[in-house]
Amino acid sequence: MNVARDKLELREALAAARRDGRTIGLVPTMGALHDGHLALLTAARERCDVVVMSLFVNPAQFAPGEDLEAYPRDEARDLELAAEAGVDLVFAPSATEVYPSGFSTSVEVAGLTEVLDGDPQRRGPGHFRGVTTVVAKLFNAVGPELAFFGQKDAQQAVVIRRMARDLDFPVEIVVVPTVREPDGLAMSSRNAYLDPAERERAAALSRALRAAERAVEAGETSTEPALAAARAELAAAGIEPEYLEARDAEDLTPARNFNGRPILVAVAARVGPARLIDNVVIGGTGLRD
Ligand code: PAJ
Repeated sequence: MNVARDKLELREALAAARRDGRTIGLVPTMGALHDGHLALLTAARERCDVVVMSLFVNPAQFAPGEDLEAYPRDEARDLELAAEAGVDLVFAPSATEVYPSGFSTSVEVAGLTEVLDGDPQRRGPGHFRGVTTVVAKLFNAVGPELAFFGQKDAQQAVVIRRMARDLDFPVEIVVVPTVREPDGLAMSSRNAYLDPAERERAAALSRALRAAERAVEAGETSTEPALAAARAELAAAGIEPEYLEARDAEDLTPARNFNGRPILVAVAARVGPARLIDNVVIGGTGLRD
């Protein structure tokens, strides 16, 4: 497995693959790899000839006072796991390589980034501006035919798909289902912040989403009663969500009914020091395309 630290090394490492017309797949990550990331790498391995994983804790997507400094970093372990997962090339640039002095451009997707996590009362659209700017740079640097994102961050996947379409990136965005712990908790690098008691309470997020799903399975067609069932699960664990909402999974407009279109039921909540998010897509074909 190769490791490229700058764009030149990256370009050289991919030159032969590009010349031979091999399919390049990109899996962007911020490291601290867990089984969720590994599922993306496995999906990329299955569909692509060359798998590139980027490893970059992107300062631009952290708000001031967020956990940029505390974010878990263990490059040696990440490189080992990536090699085991069959990654061909890791792109692990420094912050100054990605944002050299004088850097002043950003990519912003309007609308989709102003709700849920992008609500100005929460992380704000600046978070997604940081994400789309770095992902646009990664798409340009790597030139992948396919790029893999987790449903865990559903809004991020929707926003990136919009960006790729709007800016004519010739890349297919593949969304991989959320990987969970045995008790349902969605895997996340931020779960490392939880102590054992918080870790147990955190499982209420996925239980809440399951309760919404069960309500729909039992015949509920309006979103509000399904959300009420979810809210009750959270309350039982003493969790007050930052948001718990049902939205159209494609355009993120509020959804009042389960109407056959894919509906995103998304939750965010603070549990101890961690801000956790999770979601399910009910109906339709999910976020697959
Ligand atoms: P990071 O949080 O490291 O996640 C990298 C990718 O792994 C994202 O596409 C995310 O949705 C996916 N992922 C995380 N947990 C998952 C889980 N439990 N199941 C399935 N997929 C999961 O998301 C980012 O980094 C950054 O915003 C990034 C896209 C790299 C841009 O900086």
